[in-house]
Amino acid sequence: MANEEMVDWEALPGAQGERNGSTGKQLLKFLAAVLLVGFCFHFLFTEFILWEPDSTKAGCTLFQGEWILDNEGPAYTNETCHFIEPYQNCMRNERPDTGYLYWRWKPKNCDLARFDADKFLNAMRNKSWALIGDSIFRNHMQSLICLLSKIDEPVDIYHEMNYKTRTWYFSSYNFTLAVIWAPFLVRYDTFEGHNTLAEPNLELHLDILDTKWTTEYHKYDYVVISGGQWFYKSAIMWENNRVIGCHNCPDDNLKELGVTEPYRKALRLAFHFVSTNDHKPFVVFRTWTPDHFEYGKWYNGGVCNRTQPYKEGEYDGDPTDHAMRRAEIEEFEHAAKIGVKNGMQMKLLDTYHLSLLRPDGHPGPYRTYPPINDKNKKVQNDCLHWCLPGPIDTWNELLMKMVIDDDDNLGHASA
Ligand SMILES: *[C@@H]1O[C@H](CO)[C@@H](O)[C@H](O)[C@H]1NC(C)=O
Ligand SMILES: *[C@@H]1O[C@H](CO)[C@@H](O)[C@H](O)[C@H]1NC(C)=O
Ligand SMILES: *[C@@H]1O[C@H](CO)[C@@H](O)[C@H](O)[C@H]1NC(C)=O
Ligand SMILES: *[C@@H]1O[C@H](CO)[C@@H](O)[C@H](O)[C@H]1NC(C)=O
Repeated sequence: MANEEMVDWEALPGAQGERNGSTGKQLLKFLAAVLLVGFCFHFLFTEFILWEPDSTKAGCTLFQGEWILDNEGPAYTNETCHFIEPYQNCMRNERPDTGYLYWRWKPKNCDLARFDADKFLNAMRNKSWALIGDSIFRNHMQSLICLLSKIDEPVDIYHEMNYKTRTWYFSSYNFTLAVIWAPFLVRYDTFEGHNTLAEPNLELHLDILDTKWTTEYHKYDYVVISGGQWFYKSAIMWENNRVIGCHNCPDDNLKELGVTEPYRKALRLAFHFVSTNDHKPFVVFRTWTPDHFEYGKWYNGGVCNRTQPYKEGEYDGDPTDHAMRRAEIEEFEHAAKIGVKNGMQMKLLDTYHLSLLRPDGHPGPYRTYPPINDKNKKVQNDCLHWCLPGPIDTWNELLMKMVIDDDDNLGHASA
């Protein structure tokens, strides 16, 4: 159990620091980090422009709309799906409010059908999927498994010791579903022991892809990729075999690169690999996933105790997140043009905004059983991953619409 706990918290960016290391040192580290992040915000703010998605022919904007009340409730529960991991099993962990389970995403000018597991599995006979990214995909995969397991129960045919990379097989349909752990998409090295601001324990190679996914890529018919929050970690950046700078730099001699440019470089490299590859799976890129920490950050008592979605316009999200998403969309659109010329299907699953409207969908303190609600106890809330069932189930309904129903004028990068 202790081991599982560590695995889970590693899934929350930067959590390693808090986990091992002395509190005083960590506090200093975080104060310094906060100052640096604030500094970056200043710059990012000045170049911040809200990206507006292309309007589509049919007038349906799959990723714009509103969350509407839904009396029917979720497609599965902690009783009917036994694949929910403890940290996302909010029902089992006695989250008291249930309102968050009764919302549906209603895209502007069209409807999003409920997930049809039968239709999905029939369309996926003899096919294989890989979800490539960080722990949000493990969260996403569990949702998909819960939705599908009503029809066919998968078996675990491969997992690494820490379960971060894992493959499931649905034997009745010869359908394979893998999640591949590649949180940066590019190569990274971690150094145990170097875990202070003066010595970041992470080195990123912005010009080398993570072979973890590139060596597996050719095996899959459908590939869903994302980047994410790990790029906010303190890191030394490499290019052409030399250090080019860093994020949250340990010393003044190194150039502070911020987060968007390194992220953009990593995405550009990953998209180049995908769009020019001889293997041409159906590629979906999932955009940035927002967290909803309030009254603090994840490491200093931040919480997510809202029990209702935001209304449109009520909350705009973190400006740095917007900059990251903008880099994603620009890089994706550029690559998709090349990919499409190369005979590929490349689509954007732009879940950022609709997820941003769901501050009520996270485990918060209900990541553990029993939940720790004692105000005097130090509790780490999870306001990044999503309760299952929960808003992340919608991502699969959107995937269904884009991939199975092949609503071609929807979710395209560009016309
Ligand atoms: C599901 O959650 C409820 C509420 O916490 C709990 O009583 C029940 O035992 C859980 N069922 C399973 C199978 O975990
Ligand atoms: C399963 O699908 C693969 C293609 O992905 C095919 O090569 C194989 O023959 C199929 N196996 C069965 C038992 O249908
Ligand atoms: C799946 O693969 C098997 C074995 O190769 C084949 O007999 C069957 O027709 C395939 N089904 C589909 C839907 O491609
Ligand atoms: C949420 O938590 C904050 C900080 O602990 C508290 O001030 C606020 O009243 C809480 N809101 C609700 C709705 O419980």
